[in-house]
Amino acid sequence: MFFRGPIRSMNYARFLTAVSAARRPSPIRILTELQQRSPPSLISLAGGAPNPNTFPFQSATIKVKGGEALVLDEPLMKRALQYSGSYGIPELLSWMKDLQKSLHNPPTAGFSPERGQMEMCVTTGSQEGLCKIFEMLVSSGDNVLLDAPTYSGTLAALQPLGCNLINVPSDHHGMIPADLRKILGQWDPAEAQKPGSSIPRVLYTIPNGGNPTGASMTHERKQEVYELARKYDFLIIEDDPYYFLQFQKPWAPTFLSMDVDGRVLRTDSFSKILSSGLRIGFVTGPKPLVERVVLHIQASTMHTSTFTQLMVSQLLHNWGPGGFLKHIDGVIDFYRSQRNSMLSSADKWLKDVAEWHPPMAGMFLWIKLKGIKDTQQLIMERALEKEVLLVPGGVFNINSSDPCPYVRAAFSLSTPQQIDEAFRRLADLIKEAM
Ligand SMILES: Cc1ncc(COP(=O)(O)O)c(C=O)c1O
Repeated sequence: MFFRGPIRSMNYARFLTAVSAARRPSPIRILTELQQRSPPSLISLAGGAPNPNTFPFQSATIKVKGGEALVLDEPLMKRALQYSGSYGIPELLSWMKDLQKSLHNPPTAGFSPERGQMEMCVTTGSQEGLCKIFEMLVSSGDNVLLDAPTYSGTLAALQPLGCNLINVPSDHHGMIPADLRKILGQWDPAEAQKPGSSIPRVLYTIPNGGNPTGASMTHERKQEVYELARKYDFLIIEDDPYYFLQFQKPWAPTFLSMDVDGRVLRTDSFSKILSSGLRIGFVTGPKPLVERVVLHIQASTMHTSTFTQLMVSQLLHNWGPGGFLKHIDGVIDFYRSQRNSMLSSADKWLKDVAEWHPPMAGMFLWIKLKGIKDTQQLIMERALEKEVLLVPGGVFNINSSDPCPYVRAAFSLSTPQQIDEAFRRLADLIKEAM
């Protein structure tokens, strides 16, 4: 990967909010981490953990489709029911670190810890990671860059922080670097490191199969955005829960894969490929920042459910990386076929009344209704009468009351027949409203 200019030495302290900078490690949690790494001969009177012999659950056998059952025998079940370290259980973390390195080959993997060595932690869904990253980096009054319309969960986490969200224009290939350059042009990059500078310190984007737009960013655009991040010294938050739902191979190179400075925080999710209810995600990024996220975890959830982590870790170890990727291929085949069904039904019913771009990843089709200024009323009041429901696009805008002619249609849950009937009803609705 070629980037102009010398590799930067990042000053991570510059990015932290006062709240995050004030976090201190919990002494009890440090002991738990220590204990986790000690031999079984250690006699610990230190922890305040309860005795798992008093718990009612004894063992579990979980059937896996077409594979070996997961067996949590009594000793493992005791572990599953007990507190564990805040980074995540070691065997899951190391499996994920290996996967991350093999998928993204991050330059930061070879850095020293202070320079921003690649680190990871397990989170209770990627939403937890995002929310904690925002709290770590965004203070009231800060300028934050993102490409709206965007995931409503991101807006819900960011907006209460009182920041100023700057919308970078985007199209079906994601954020447009020329527009980002124009926006940043109002600042002098030499000011970036100065205390009190209003240059944004954070850019957030969903690079694959965006929610709600279905947009996927090209490699070239990512490189241009990364160049700008280097010039203006901001961090990139790569929220990529649809990475494993890319319909075409090879998968697009990620921001993490081009991170020569240590300025990318990446959130991954198992919600779309293993289970959404188990709540498991990962933060990957420079160690000094991931450490801060973990301090926040220590003070809130303490850790993601040990049971969940052991269950997932056993599955991944049984599968190996090859088995994992084979499973993903099956998931992708399903979503690709669902996407194709939705596209052919859209062609059949909506051609004259709407516009869209075929998504290359994810589970959403973003549809612009012709001749309709705002879809809010149409969906909330009239669509239910016709027994069809979609999400009005406005909820994904920075200002949700701005008129928006788009709707989001998910192709994850409905059958091709249901999708076809839904679009027939939607076409009727639009024609009546035009
Ligand atoms: C863009 C985006 N980020 C994050 C999330 C949160 O996912 P998780 O279930 O991993 O918390 C979602 C969920 O839909 C999403 O669409």
